[in-house]
Amino acid sequence: MSDTQSIMSSMVETREFPPPPDFVKDAHIKSIDEYEQLHRQSIEDPEGFWGERAKNHHWFKPHDTVLEWNAPNAKWFVGGKTNVAYNCLDLQIERGRGDHPAILWEGEPGEVVTFTYSELRDRVCQTANALKKLGVGKGDVVTIYMPMVPELAIAMLACARIGAPHSIIFGGFSASAIADRAKDAESKIILTADGGWRRGKVVPLKQNVEDAISQYGGIAKVVVLKRCENDIPWNDGRDVWWHDVVDAESTECEAEQCDSEDLLFILYTSGTTGKPKGIMHTTGGYMVYTALTAKHIFDLKPDDVYWCTADIGWITGHSYITYGPLQNGVTTLMYEGAPNQPDWGRFWEIVQKHKVTKFYTAPTAIRAFMRQGDDIPAKYDLSTLKLLGSVGEPINPEAWMWYHEHIGGERCPIVDTWWQTETGGILIAPIPGAITLKPGSATRPFFGIDAAVVDEAGVEQPANAGGFLVIRKPWPSMLRGVYGDMNRFQEQYWSQLPGIYFTSDACRRDDDGNFWLMGRVDDVINISGHRIGTAEVESAIVSHPTVAEAAVVGIPHEIKGQALAAFVALKSSSTPSDDLKKELLAHVAKEIGAIARPDQLRFTDALPKTRSGKIMRRLLKELASTGEVKGDTTTLEDFSVIASLSADDD
Ligand code: PRX
Repeated sequence: MSDTQSIMSSMVETREFPPPPDFVKDAHIKSIDEYEQLHRQSIEDPEGFWGERAKNHHWFKPHDTVLEWNAPNAKWFVGGKTNVAYNCLDLQIERGRGDHPAILWEGEPGEVVTFTYSELRDRVCQTANALKKLGVGKGDVVTIYMPMVPELAIAMLACARIGAPHSIIFGGFSASAIADRAKDAESKIILTADGGWRRGKVVPLKQNVEDAISQYGGIAKVVVLKRCENDIPWNDGRDVWWHDVVDAESTECEAEQCDSEDLLFILYTSGTTGKPKGIMHTTGGYMVYTALTAKHIFDLKPDDVYWCTADIGWITGHSYITYGPLQNGVTTLMYEGAPNQPDWGRFWEIVQKHKVTKFYTAPTAIRAFMRQGDDIPAKYDLSTLKLLGSVGEPINPEAWMWYHEHIGGERCPIVDTWWQTETGGILIAPIPGAITLKPGSATRPFFGIDAAVVDEAGVEQPANAGGFLVIRKPWPSMLRGVYGDMNRFQEQYWSQLPGIYFTSDACRRDDDGNFWLMGRVDDVINISGHRIGTAEVESAIVSHPTVAEAAVVGIPHEIKGQALAAFVALKSSSTPSDDLKKELLAHVAKEIGAIARPDQLRFTDALPKTRSGKIMRRLLKELASTGEVKGDTTTLEDFSVIASLSADDD
C-alpha cells in the first residue's frame, strides 16, 4: 500500500465549489440533505428503494422479488419481463415524446441527421425485422463493428428489441481483436460498414472484418452499411448491404418479452491476462440503473441536448449515449469523428451549432484541448452549456479548473463520474444540485452504492488513508459474469474479499466522505481513459516471429494520462534495428489496435527478473519513466541487465 500513500500526499486539494444557486433552482435533487436521506434509504432498504424506481419503467410483467443475492451471483427484478428498446422508444412515445429528436447526429464531414423518437422506433423495428430474417433469434450474439453513425445505436436497439445480445467492438480495434471476440462469443453475424470517417480518412471497417473472418471462420453473415462508398471486398453468399435488407422491412416489430436476467449485451474489456474478458450485462437491472443515474447525475430535463463524446464501442457509449439518455426522453447527440477535424475548434463548434446543454467527455480530451490554447474555445458561444462531465480516469485538478473556466464559463457544475465496464453505470459522482465539488474528486456514491476504502484484510481505512476501493452491496447494473469463464469472474472480482466487489482501483476518502480515485492497482494501464492490459500487449509483441520475450509497463503521459513502454528481448536469430522497432509497433497496432501501440520500445538482451523468474516490472517502470533505477533491487537476479538497459537511450 506504500504506493497509494505516496500518490495521496501529493494530492491535497482544498478548492470547493458548492452547487450554483441558479442550477439548484431547477435541479431534480436540490440539497445535500435530500441526497443523504435518499442514499441512506437506498442502503438500508435497497429492495424498497429499487422496487419503487422500477415502477417508472414499462414491464410486460412486474417482478416478483427485487433482489436475489448469492454472492457473487445477483438477480434483480426476478420474474419481471421487459424490453429495454421498448423503454427507450415506445414508452417515450407513449409519454408524448414521439416528435422530439432522439438522436442528433453529425458526421465528420459535416452532415447532420436527426431521428425523432418515432422515426427511431420505426428504424429500429425495420432493422430488428431484418435481423430476424437473417436468422437471428433470441439469445444469439450479434457482433457490431461500426463507425459512430446513427445505425450503430439503431443496431444495438434492434438487438435489444428481439432479445439478441449485442457485442460491440470499438471501431479502432483491429482484425485480430474482432476475430478473438467474435469467436469467444460464438457469434455468427457481424454488422459493419464499408468504412467510417476519422481525421478526414476512411477507416476500412469492412476490410478489417474480412481479415477477421480469415482468422475466425464462424461468421455466416455480414451486414454492411454504406457510409464512405470506399471499395470493399465482397462475398456474395455471405455479405448483404444494410439498405437491401432493412429498407423494405415493416416498421412494426413487436418487442420481445425478455426476462429481467436475460443477457442484454457482452462488452469485452482488458484484464490482467492476455485474453479480453466478455463482461455480461443483463436486462432489468441495467435498464433501471442507467436510467436513474443518467437522470440524476446529468440532471436531465426534457429539453436537454446532451452530448457524450465517447464512442458507443465503450461502456460509456452503451450506458450514456444510448440506453440512459433515451430512457429519459432527451436528445442524445452523436458525433462521428475526431475532435481536431478540421481543427481543434470542432467540439465547440458542435456545442454552439446544436445548442448543447450537457457535455460529457474524458480528461485526456480536456488535456489535449488545454494544450491547444484558451483562445480556441473562446471563439465559440458555449453559453447553452449547463453541466459538464468527466469519465475514464482521475481528472487532474488543473484540467478540472481549465474545464470549469474555459468550457463551463465558471457556471457549470462538473460531474466527475467514476465507474467501470463491469459496473454498467456510474457508481461514484456528484449529484450536481446537491454536492459540493472538489476538483479531482468523484465525490459521493450514487443511490444503492455501498462504497468503501479498505486494506488487504478488508478493514475500512480511516479518513485520508489510501486503500482499495470496494463495493460491499450488489447494485442493479453490476456485471453478471465473464462470458464463458465464470471462474475468472469469481477470481478477478470476488476472491480478494468474499462477497465484496473488488474494483482494482486505489482510493482514499476525505473527512467529508468524498472519494479520491488514485488509479489501478493491477497490471491494467489506463490510456486516454481506456483500459489496456499490459499482458495483452506483451502477448501481441511476443506473437511476432523475431521476439523471445517482452515486458510492457505504464509510464506517465502528459495528454494520455498514461502510455506504454515496451522492453523486448529478441530471439538470437534476430538483430535489433530501427526498422524492426517500427515493425513491432505496427504489429501491436495490427494485433490489438492503434490505442495499444507503445510510445517507447527498447531492445534488451534480457529482462530483469527475480530469482524465482518473475519479470520485475516495477524496475522497468521506473527506468522508463525516469531514465534510471533507484528502487530496491535486492531480489533482482542479475543487475547487469538493468545496467545495460540504463545505458541505452531511446
Ligand atoms: O481506473 C478506473 C478508471 O477507469 C477504469 C475503468 O475503465 P473502463 O472499464 O474502460 O471504463 C471506463 C469508463 C467508465 C476504472 O477502474 N476510471 C474511470 N472513471 C474514472 C476513473 N478513474 C478515476 N476517476 C474517474 N472518474
